Amino acid sequence: MKKRLGVNIDHVATLRNARGEKHPDPYTVALDVLKSGADSITIHLREDRRHINDIDLKILSSNKSIPINLEIASDPKMINIALKNKPSFICLVPEKRNEITTEGGLNLKKNKNKIKKILEIFNKNNIRTSLFINPSLQDIKLSKILGSKCIEIHTGKISNQIKQKQNYSKELDKIKKCAFYANKIGLEVHAGHGMDYKTTKILNKIKQIEEFNIGHFIIGESISHGISNVVKQFIKILR
Ligand code: PXP
Repeated sequence: MKKRLGVNIDHVATLRNARGEKHPDPYTVALDVLKSGADSITIHLREDRRHINDIDLKILSSNKSIPINLEIASDPKMINIALKNKPSFICLVPEKRNEITTEGGLNLKKNKNKIKKILEIFNKNNIRTSLFINPSLQDIKLSKILGSKCIEIHTGKISNQIKQKQNYSKELDKIKKCAFYANKIGLEVHAGHGMDYKTTKILNKIKQIEEFNIGHFIIGESISHGISNVVKQFIKILR
């Protein structure tokens, strides 16, 4: 099975918004990401629009050759925006106004009726549905019952353990069991959050995980590795 890579480009917009101008442009970056071999573009339209905004979503989703994975909170306004723009995929995520990033998975038990209705709407509209959840067998079972087609396992905890050189075997075992069970009951398995090269190498060994959604590290590495080309370009202009 070919493992797929979705690149989250939210932080291209973060950088653009720092100046309130047009550069760097998430649309141009999305085209380069796909040209380089990635399979889809992930964007999270947050309530506070801190990075990706409505215009970005409109421009990106109007090009139907760009497979867009739109992450949204389970909020009626977001559902309407998503239906208007018709991304290829949606992923429901929890959202807290004051968090720096999506800190954990959805609370499915507490929100099951709401989530079930939202999944029904997107399934009817042929938009692939996914739920961002913690590695929990109970949440996987519930994801299937609620009607999701995929789950995305939150890999924040294991990513931190790996980065901090802590013992991650218990968390890895949990993720393996979840991926196996989800696949067995007919859910497509995705993973994401906090991943870098090392985390990806480790989690890529789990054969049931079909798709990885990676953002912050890719944008960070792109700056580290891209800066020498850009500096050389300026030296050429100046001398
Ligand atoms: N997957 C989901 C559902 C997310 O919300 C995010 C961003 O928070 C990511 C993947 C990518 O995480 P990161 O930017 O840490 O790679």
